[in-house]
Amino acid sequence: MSEQTKTILRALAGERVDPPPVWLMRQAGRYLPEYRATRAQAGDFLSLCYTPDLAAEVTLQPIRRYGFDAAILFADILLLPQALGADLWFVTGEGPRLSTITDAAGVAALKPTEAIHDTLSPVYETVRILRRELPAETTLIGFAGAPWTVATYMIAGRGTPDQGPAHALREGDPAAFDALMERLTAATVEYLSAQIEAGAEVVKLFDSWAGSLKGDAFARYATEPARAIIAALKARHPGIPVIAFPREAGAHYIGFARATGADCVALDNSVGADWAAQHVQTDGCVQGNLDPRHMVTGGDTLVAETQRIVRALAGGPHIFNLGHGITPDADPENVHRMLEAIRG
Ligand code: CP3
Repeated sequence: MSEQTKTILRALAGERVDPPPVWLMRQAGRYLPEYRATRAQAGDFLSLCYTPDLAAEVTLQPIRRYGFDAAILFADILLLPQALGADLWFVTGEGPRLSTITDAAGVAALKPTEAIHDTLSPVYETVRILRRELPAETTLIGFAGAPWTVATYMIAGRGTPDQGPAHALREGDPAAFDALMERLTAATVEYLSAQIEAGAEVVKLFDSWAGSLKGDAFARYATEPARAIIAALKARHPGIPVIAFPREAGAHYIGFARATGADCVALDNSVGADWAAQHVQTDGCVQGNLDPRHMVTGGDTLVAETQRIVRALAGGPHIFNLGHGITPDADPENVHRMLEAIRG
């Protein structure tokens, strides 16, 4: 099958596809019993990420069950800080923990960019397995965290409600903060480039905490790093499509694709689909943006909301997705209902 027949690649090239292609953030995850079984077999989350056969298996599970148009590599945005020398572990029921970076010495102590491949080579192997095993019509998406979001975890050592420690460092010691952002920008280019060389057909940049950057800080720490990463990737891999997800960017969604060179902007569910059709889709493909709660609550509202979003974005290129990841309490049957509402 030629690449142009893959629905996601057509939408990313600016084509209106009817019905829209669909995949879900966190589609390989704890809401699926087969994921929980493979995760138990791996022992823990990081072992699952670093065991290519098992990481490929959980990536394929939602494709087998639902026939999504894209598979997203199973890994985590925090593997890159680990590859740069941070300690990383996951506390069950709580989330990630990392050693913290609080000053310029902490940034200087990170490993050189080239060293990341020593840790991340199993991820590239997962990508190679997936390119062999995925159905011909399924697009393989690689990903990384955007520098700001990854920095928030490296500075605080954990997830935080307001990214306070990262804001404090960028205001209190801008030289150290900028040095960290530069290291992360360079390492992200190398990491995504290696995923593309291994077979990723699209890459996505997750800036989950972009919404906490206000005013000029948004342009400097969300837009500019995305622009630099996308320019470097496209110089090395001409034509590689990139999806950018500046979550909760609000009005900053307007013009984000133009400013960064992204082929698609992923929308969170705090913005209206009608608003996005008028202000964001005018620049190209958009992805999103059903509220993940509907995958828990289901019913007629799930169907109605799904169809409302499909209709609102039917005038241009659209990839259907949720506004954030599907949650562990989602009902796997609701994914079937959503797909039926999209595909008929
Ligand atoms: O299916 C997919 O989407 C691909 C795999 C993927 C994971 N994490 C697997 C995962 C992707 C793309 C991510 C991205 C990621 N990781 C982000 C950005 C997207 C977002 O959600 O905003 C962030 C911020 C992280 C960091 C991270 N990883 C946190 C905060 C947590 C704990 C919260 C949670 O959901 O448990 C993780 C763990 C994680 N990453 C899980 C999965 C499936 C759950 C781990 C488990 O199985 O116990």
